[in-house]
This record gives sequence, structure tokens and C-alpha cells, in this order.
Amino acid sequence: MKEYVQIFDTTLRDGEQVPGCKLGTNQKVEIAKELEQLGVNVIEAGFPISSPGDFEAVQQIASTIKGTTICALSRAVDKDIQCAGEALKHAVNGRIHTGIGTSDFHIFQKLNSTRENILERGIRAVKLARNLAPEVEFYAEDAGRTDNKFLAQVVEKMIHAGATIINIPDTTGYCLPHQYGEKIKYLMDHVPNMDKAILSTHCHNDLGLATANSIAGIQAGARQIECTINGVGERAGNTSLEEVVMILKQHQDIQLHTSIQTERLTHLSRIVESEMNMQVQRNKAIVGRNAFAHSSGIHQDGVIKSRETYEIIDPKEVGAGSTQIILTARSGRAAIKYRAKLLHVDLSKDQLEEVYHRFLEIADRENQIDDLQLKELLNNVIVCQAQ
Ligand code: KIV
Ligand code: ZN
Repeated sequence: MKEYVQIFDTTLRDGEQVPGCKLGTNQKVEIAKELEQLGVNVIEAGFPISSPGDFEAVQQIASTIKGTTICALSRAVDKDIQCAGEALKHAVNGRIHTGIGTSDFHIFQKLNSTRENILERGIRAVKLARNLAPEVEFYAEDAGRTDNKFLAQVVEKMIHAGATIINIPDTTGYCLPHQYGEKIKYLMDHVPNMDKAILSTHCHNDLGLATANSIAGIQAGARQIECTINGVGERAGNTSLEEVVMILKQHQDIQLHTSIQTERLTHLSRIVESEMNMQVQRNKAIVGRNAFAHSSGIHQDGVIKSRETYEIIDPKEVGAGSTQIILTARSGRAAIKYRAKLLHVDLSKDQLEEVYHRFLEIADRENQIDDLQLKELLNNVIVCQAQ
């Protein structure tokens, strides 16, 4: 039987922390509406104590979006938690996401504290948040570099204090997939009250492993993935929502599913790209503009015969239109015949040969041959041969 994994989107909080990506309240509300339609389970709308603008955005989203849990971030600091609770007052289902650093780097170097004090502060934060919102999620910041034994202690105590979702962030993107998976498994096996909460993955992409780590985490027992559209986020970014969702869709053997309407992925990717002014790399998995484009002759010949030869995802499944056959100097005859046919020109064998040779001369000079250039080429050849 397939189990369900919750998708927690943090585009509007962790994603928006990127320099140059700041969004206004109206932009945030519009993106939140799109996220609700996409089918995410939780929208992390912001960090209300951070600025009056962010408080307003969280408040607006909590008042507007009714079908999705709305989450607000706080540190384990009373005034942060009270502010998050206030911003979520009108949410149908509000969640306060509070937490504190648990690695020795954070405890000793950043917080100048002790493990005992961190536990006390965490418990106090969770208990306060529990009075202000129906759901409390606790994050153990830098869990990726936290000693597992201490982490298990933190998780047990926070669940006991009332948190029902425990976030295990690989804040610095340090872990390898097997290490992150083992960390989740360790917690599943060693936290006595683990059945009273779910574990959440929150992976950063500093080593390009955020997606792999998130998948390793859910394979080891986590049941929520924190991610962002296009993988936007601090430094090298967060786990990309579209990647984890499509991995679960493609690999039915993992036996986990999400509620995401995948045909809306490309549409929302483009909205986030333009609103955040953060261009998606062309070869980005799933939503990059080249994700379903084929330009080499060998691949084109295969895809024209049967799409599955070189595509594991039907572009329609992610709302990316159809497979694209791009004409470049690496293209072959099959691609030219195919593209000519799209222009309603059925080339004979001789015509194809002639077009192909003339095409290569142009293609070696140009990056890509578009429809206009191809039309001109086809006209020239067909008219010449008719004379
Ligand atoms: O990366 C991180 O640790 C975070 C927490 C604040 C959840 O974003
Ligand atoms: Zn983060």
C-alpha cells in the first residue's frame, strides 16, 4: 500500500531569503494561491518577526488561503513565537515553525550556550507555540551536522512538549544521501515517542545533493519534504519541489505519493522565475527550457520514432507542452523531415537530401534554425527543383 508524503513549500520563506528575490505582499498572495492550486499541503508564508512587510504578507495569506495549512517561522524566542501566532490568527489551519540550532557549531559558536540550555529553550518555545496555533513544527537547525544521540534526545523532548512535526534540516547542505538517510533511520529507531510525530526533511543544495538527500530521508521514514519551486533558496538553494515530486511519480517502486497536480509545475515555475527575477537554468531538471528539447541527430531519430527512447517523463505531465525537436548542426535528416512536416511540407527522398545539405551549411554558422529559416530553405529547394 502506498503511503502519503506531505509537501511543505517554503518558496515564500526560505526561497525568498535570496538576495534580489524579495517579494511584496500582493506577489506573495498570488504565488500562495498558485501553490494551493498546485496541491501543496503546507505553505510556509514567511518569518513574521523579521519585518512589518513579512508580518503583513503572512497575515494576508492566512486570511486568503483556506485549503492549505499556513505556516510561519520563528526562532525559539518568545516575541518571535507570539508574533507568528498573531500573524496566523485568521488561518483555518495555522502552524508555528519554531526551533533552534542543535549542532555543536551552533550551540557553542553561534549561541554561546550548552546542550542542556538548548533543550530548555526548545521545550519552552514548543509549549508557548502550542498555545498559539493548532500545529507546532520544531526545527533542529543544522541537524545535518548534529550528533545523532543528542538529536534523538532533542526530538523526544520536543515531541513530548507538543510538536507533531519535527524538521531535520541539513542547513549547510553537508550530508551525503546515505548519511542523511541513516540519520532519519536512527531517529525512527531510537526516539521512543516517534509514533506521535512525523519527521520532515529540509535539505540545502550546497553540494548539489538536496534532492538526493530528501529522497534518502523519506525512504528512511520521513513523511514530509520541505522544498521550493525551482529550488530557490539561500546560497545554492533548497530541495526543488518539482524534482522530488516527479521522482516519486516516476519511481512508483518507492511506494510514496504526493497530492501535487504535476501538470501545473511548469506554469508555476515560470511565475516564480519572473516574480523573483531569478532565471531558471536551461538544463534544470523538469522545468528548464531544455528539459524536453532534443538537438542531436541520434536522439532526434529515436524520439521521433518513440518518445520513450530518450524521455522518461511526458512533457504534458508537467505542463511543458510537447517534446521539442531543435534544429542545430548536430541534427539529422529525421529531424528535418519531421519539422518540415509540421510546416505541412512532405519532403521526397531527393528533396530531403538537398535540404539537408543546404541546412548543414547554414547550421554550421548559426546556433539554431527556426521555422522562418526552415521555410525559406524549403521554398528555395522546392522551387529550384520544380524549375
Ligand atoms: O535551513 C534551515 O535550517 C532552515 C530552518 C530555519 C528551518 O531554514
Ligand atoms: Zn533552510
